[in-house]
Amino acid sequence: AFPKRVKVVEVGPRDGLQNEKTVVPTPVKISLINMLSETGLQVIEATSFVSPKWVPQMADHTEVMRGINKLPGISYPVLTPNLKGFQAAVAAGAKEVSIFGAASELFTKKNINCSIEESLERFDEVMTAARAASIPVRGYVSCVLGCPYEGKISPAKVAEVSKKMYAMGCYEISLGDTIGIGTPGSMREMLTAVMKEVPVGALAVHCHDTYGQALANILVALQMGVSVVDASVAGLGGCPYAQGASGNVATEDLVYMLNGLGIHTGVDLQKLMDTGTFICNALNRRTNSKVSQANCRL
Ligand code: HMG
Ligand code: MG
Repeated sequence: AFPKRVKVVEVGPRDGLQNEKTVVPTPVKISLINMLSETGLQVIEATSFVSPKWVPQMADHTEVMRGINKLPGISYPVLTPNLKGFQAAVAAGAKEVSIFGAASELFTKKNINCSIEESLERFDEVMTAARAASIPVRGYVSCVLGCPYEGKISPAKVAEVSKKMYAMGCYEISLGDTIGIGTPGSMREMLTAVMKEVPVGALAVHCHDTYGQALANILVALQMGVSVVDASVAGLGGCPYAQGASGNVATEDLVYMLNGLGIHTGVDLQKLMDTGTFICNALNRRTNSKVSQANCRL
């Protein structure tokens, strides 16, 4: 049975913009987030407090956090790989953060320059500081259906890392198909393993659409009881440390599908499409949302 309502986590301002070749002006990022705040979304991932040498696109994290209108009832989480990032995020006004690990050793090394074991130690420091400041922490696990460097990743490994991050105190674990390589078959197999270790109510799926499988994979996750889904307006996105990975599932397409299933999201599809048009015009690119493309032709 499908969940009655789904929480859509908008990751476009972070996952979407982190991968842009040209620097997106800070006022454009702020306008994007402010427009998203008017669509009914409850969670909008705003930026990341990572090293500007590693991801120059997110170097304006403090200006973005200080510049946006934070509406009551909406959460604006940010990525924090370590204590330094966490402290900078809190100083900039963040009230929720995300730590990001992976089920692949090589991806962890390329993405955050340490082993999985070391990453968990760093995350533990963030968790301790977050607990002291009463800041909720979300946990990402990347490469859950495959890795750009290691290839196949076993469901058991995903379950092991997810279990550790949940036990650490993450209120939610977002399972990332970083390179969009999964299928409904591998999604089912992976979720079956993870659900033995983490309650389904604490799981989210984060699907990139590289192989065109994102909506199908999400549908399987919904059937298995997952009720939190990450998505990116206009299908923006990718990971700088996963070459060739395309954007997340477009939020417009996800909301369209959920509307069709009668699943409540609280998100206004028209406002979302207008926001997609805004950011695509600003980036001078075509939307990756099929729903927006179809609507344009009406
Ligand atoms: P490192 O070089 O190993 O770090 O990088 P370090 O601790 O040795 O420090 C080196 C320098 O970085 C020092 O500065 C530190 O101060 C600075 P220097 O002395 O050279 O001037 N530094 C920082 N600066 C700003 N913010 C910080 C910070 N920490 C250290 N937080 C580090 C380690 C984690 C910092 C680096 O590897 C990094 O920033 N990685 C981020 C990679 C990233 O953002 N990837 C994309 C997000 S993950 C993703 O997209 C997947 C996801 O969407 C889910 C999915 O799709 O699967 C979430
Ligand atoms: Mg991602």
